[in-house]
Amino acid sequence: MRPELQGQFAEHLGHGIYDGIWVGEGSSIPNIHGYRKDVVEALKAIKVPVIRWPGGCFADTYHWRDGIGPQDRRPVRVNTNWGGVEEPNSFGAHEFMNFAELVGAKAYLSANVGSGSPQEASDWLEYLTSDSRSSLASERRANGRDKAWRVDYVGVGNEAWGCGGNMRPGAYADLYRRYSAFLRSSGATPIVKVASGANADDLAWTDTLMAQAGDLIDAISLHFYTIPTGQWAHKGSATEFGEAEWIATLKATLKMDRLIRDHSAVMDKYDPGRRVGLSVDEWGVWLDAEPGSNGAFLYQQNSLRDAVTAAINLDIFQAHADRVRMANIAQMVNVLQAMILTDHEKMVRTPTYYAFDLYQVFQGAVALPVDVAAPDYRFGADSIPGLYASAGRDVAGAVDVALVNPDPSHPVHAEIRLAGLTAHAVRGRILTAPAMNAVNTFDRPDVVKPADFNGAVLKGDVLSVVLPAKAIVVLTLK
Ligand code: AHR
Repeated sequence: MRPELQGQFAEHLGHGIYDGIWVGEGSSIPNIHGYRKDVVEALKAIKVPVIRWPGGCFADTYHWRDGIGPQDRRPVRVNTNWGGVEEPNSFGAHEFMNFAELVGAKAYLSANVGSGSPQEASDWLEYLTSDSRSSLASERRANGRDKAWRVDYVGVGNEAWGCGGNMRPGAYADLYRRYSAFLRSSGATPIVKVASGANADDLAWTDTLMAQAGDLIDAISLHFYTIPTGQWAHKGSATEFGEAEWIATLKATLKMDRLIRDHSAVMDKYDPGRRVGLSVDEWGVWLDAEPGSNGAFLYQQNSLRDAVTAAINLDIFQAHADRVRMANIAQMVNVLQAMILTDHEKMVRTPTYYAFDLYQVFQGAVALPVDVAAPDYRFGADSIPGLYASAGRDVAGAVDVALVNPDPSHPVHAEIRLAGLTAHAVRGRILTAPAMNAVNTFDRPDVVKPADFNGAVLKGDVLSVVLPAKAIVVLTLK
């Protein structure tokens, strides 16, 4: 399974970059060349495979030359998308590429298509990836980086139908064709070009894009956010919710599976061999901003509900890995469904972080078919499947099975037949908490945290598991 299914997204938005990742070398917060040490260490521990940057909507207002050269001489701009705050540009291309290297992640750049030009985007790539003596490569060296970086992915704009330029699909398809002629790496690795895809279920967008530019596209992005109430005006509280909101959230998130199937079916018309990938490069639970916070900063708490939602989405991506080649949760630090929250010198790993932690065994694993059945989980008029699963043979040769019980009150019994596999021992880790709205706070950072799990028994080739309520379990069989 491609590690990129566990990718991250980091935008210049609220405290996603500044304070969240970057504090600068002079900060009293412990840092590695300006990057928060605690955040770098936490991200390394979950093996972040790829980071998408600098946006989001921000990307189509961003001009890369603002973010190079001496930091104190960089221009200050206004972040027009996210609260009109000052953008100091002290975190620019060098800072991002070095950060990705430090964390061990691939770089996924979003090029400015909305207000930029093919020349600007092409220069950016040459500046970053050329080992030649071209003026742009020499400028990079003069700015402190001798060796060319590797850029693996480039997004050709972001939400071109919306904040990226209010385009119609045909107009964007033409623009994509034009940009794609100029976006190339000067390094050995070709860049995967990601076209700006549909807004949720806009299948006509995908159809037009595939018909008019599919031959030049490597992947199409898909953005879908889970909103518990289904209403942008009142999305729902991150912490004050009951079982009705719990099941509504999980039910809403299952739309991801349908969206992938539907867009993929449209793509199949033009690309039956599935050369073109889907890149779900923005997904996650979008909730009301924390009371008292700046609403434009999209800062929200993160509960066990978010972790369960994340695990179900990771299962969905893994099940569709023949089409979904990358997914990037929105967003990595302090924004939306974050891995990490910071407050000055304090830092906390969220429940979602720990869901990614449990699932990291699937990075690079060979997918194994897994078919599980359980009675539906019902509450009121709502019902959803009562069990979710993924399985794979990991890079160490062990078989891993992830199981999610969405029912917040009742355990579920699962029996999994290991057809053709022999195993002698099973060990596991579980993520759960006493309350479905349990959160980790700066004062109590370990409320939702993985623990050892001993509730699985191997009987011959059958794995029998009693899965506690509202739990994610990952079992490793040897
Ligand atoms: O992730 C927040 C915003 O959501 C992104 O900037 C944009 O692409 C999307 O609408």
